[in-house]
Amino acid sequence: MKNRLILHGGAWNIPDALQDAHMHGIREALTAVSAELIQGMTALDATEMAVRMLEADPTYDAGRGAFLNSKGEIELDAMIMDGRTLDFGAVAAIQNVLHPISVARVVMTESEHCILVGKGAQDFAKAQGIEETTPEDLLTERELATWQRLQKDSSFRTHQPFDKPMGTVGAVAMDNDGNLAAATSTGGTPQKLAGRVGDTPIIGAGTYADNELGAASATGWGESILKVMLTRQLCDLFGSMPAGQAAKAVIKHLQERVKGLGGVIGIDSNGNYAFHHNTPYMAFGYMEEGGKIVVNIQIRK
Ligand code: GLY
Repeated sequence: MKNRLILHGGAWNIPDALQDAHMHGIREALTAVSAELIQGMTALDATEMAVRMLEADPTYDAGRGAFLNSKGEIELDAMIMDGRTLDFGAVAAIQNVLHPISVARVVMTESEHCILVGKGAQDFAKAQGIEETTPEDLLTERELATWQRLQKDSSFRTHQPFDKPMGTVGAVAMDNDGNLAAATSTGGTPQKLAGRVGDTPIIGAGTYADNELGAASATGWGESILKVMLTRQLCDLFGSMPAGQAAKAVIKHLQERVKGLGGVIGIDSNGNYAFHHNTPYMAFGYMEEGGKIVVNIQIRK
């Protein structure tokens, strides 16, 4: 039995006033999902369940609470991957759904495709019986105020050091049978152009899982994570070094090769955890042997 579960709630700056909320959401999801994993839930179901809980929590930049794009709209990206088969499903720039991760799941299981975007993804979700929601349901006063402020700031760049968390959410799990899965969901970057797709729904960039290598989920500045294919790079390194060292190595590469900013969580094929970031903070937590929950917000030295 090798139950493993590790979650992140984004990186970047997480001001003191927001740290408790970031850690609380992760703790709640870890507590609920690890109990199910221990009872035999599959890794795939566990990652979807954890990400759904974090999408519903307005603290994070995923589902409810997501950043607005430059047009004042919420467009969401998500991906889920099954380490047994390498099957994956992803959606990008989808609107009016609270749980894009569940749309990604049905893209994987109920369509012939791997990735659907925009209106096509929305129509497919509807056809699969996934409830449509309203822009108002996803919008928080906090993000409306941020959007109004940034609209007046022509010097703002989507990846510049920001006074708010970039609260992409992610989950990586190993189940009783040793199967791995990963899932990630995000509203992307503030003020992104309409139609922008980040790292989250791109295989090997924001999300990856292969039973033979490991599984991982990333957070941070998507354009830089895309360039180095961060999660696949981490999974490749798992074979040649301890998991914690591999996470440090890929973040170092992200920083040195493309001046990137981000964080990553993962599990290697032997069930060892990996986590590291070069942003000031990363909200993350994991289930220890015996079910004890550990939640943290900063490990960077
Ligand atoms: N890492 C999330 C994004 O850049 O979209």
